[in-house]
Amino acid sequence: MTDYVPSRGDRFSFGLWTVGWPARDMFGDASRPPLDPVDAVEHLAKLGAYGVSFHDDDLIPHGSDEAARERYITRFREALDATGLVVSMMTTNLFTHPVFKDGAFTANDRAVRRYALAKVARNLDLAAVLGAPTYVLWGGREGAESGAAKDVASALDRYKEALDVLCGYVRERGYGLRFAIEPKPNEPRGDILLPTIGHALAFVSTLDDPDRVGLNPEVGHEEMAGLNFAHGIAQALWHGKLFHIDLNGQHGPRFDQDLRFGAGNLRGAFWTVDTLESGGYTGPRHFDYKPPRTEDIGGVWDSAAACMRTYLILRERAAAFRADPEVRQALADARVDELARPTLAPGETLDDVRAERPDIEALAARGMAFERLDQLAMDHLLGAR
Ligand code: GCO
Ligand code: MN
Ligand code: MN
Repeated sequence: MTDYVPSRGDRFSFGLWTVGWPARDMFGDASRPPLDPVDAVEHLAKLGAYGVSFHDDDLIPHGSDEAARERYITRFREALDATGLVVSMMTTNLFTHPVFKDGAFTANDRAVRRYALAKVARNLDLAAVLGAPTYVLWGGREGAESGAAKDVASALDRYKEALDVLCGYVRERGYGLRFAIEPKPNEPRGDILLPTIGHALAFVSTLDDPDRVGLNPEVGHEEMAGLNFAHGIAQALWHGKLFHIDLNGQHGPRFDQDLRFGAGNLRGAFWTVDTLESGGYTGPRHFDYKPPRTEDIGGVWDSAAACMRTYLILRERAAAFRADPEVRQALADARVDELARPTLAPGETLDDVRAERPDIEALAARGMAFERLDQLAMDHLLGAR
């Protein structure tokens, strides 16, 4: 057991919009004052984070003139230099301004689509200067509330066009950036395009430069759709497409709760950490959550520290689970390793398989011993082993 103190090597990062959320919601005014991005950087560094991410408008408020823009950037860079925090990801706000009410890359209005591309390109130049390796595209407004309002095939054509243009721009400029699409099923739109990891993976395969584009899945977004997040990121890893991740907490299919990591579906969080740690993910452990509206700024920092602490506890529990000799035996009893063995031996054909006469009834009668294995995981998660 350690004291779960995060360090830079753990690669924890937070969005400026998370700890900086003033907690204005659909029903109520802000319950906290705005947070200066410089304060956010200083506090996050003190808590043990290594990185920070942000939307263009989080750092440079919409409508700032050139001189103000430069001042915001300079102050922020000074805070980064002073603390050693890195910019681990950047993104564009394509959802707050009412111009994006019908989407950005897939707005029916062509002039809006052109403005959205220009807004992203401008911030890509800043991302290159600040050394952000990943650029997230969350299409929260790309969607519809009603059936005839959106021609889905044309919208996907325009979505692809946008990605192709942006990839071309990054390539031409020689920027080392990769894009990561963040799926979400709904909210703020009634239905959002590219609603799940699976939809986004299929879409990426249609792009002109598919190697430059991967995913930024979020725990809550998959769970809003009733999906298994650990399975989703395991598939994204299998495709080599888990470029980034948004960790948070969610209680099943309902509105996007953005709870701190580990709140809500704790067992899901255990398997998420296990998948990240054993599946070869090397990117930032990025938290995209909203400190609840009940909290003052002290509660905000408590919740940020809690996201990292819970991750470290779960990382320890998952490692203990994997190292436990009884678990290894239970995994073997459950024939989990057998799945790694190809179904056909080298040189065999379907004819060999068809010539076999397996004892179907004996195979059917064989228990899989998954319940014992799962309770061992539960024991480790609860600290009972
Ligand atoms: C949400 C999304 C956003 C994005 C962010 C970065 O549901 O609000 O998760 O928080 O992650 O805009 O693109
Ligand atoms: Mn969310
Ligand atoms: Mn997110």
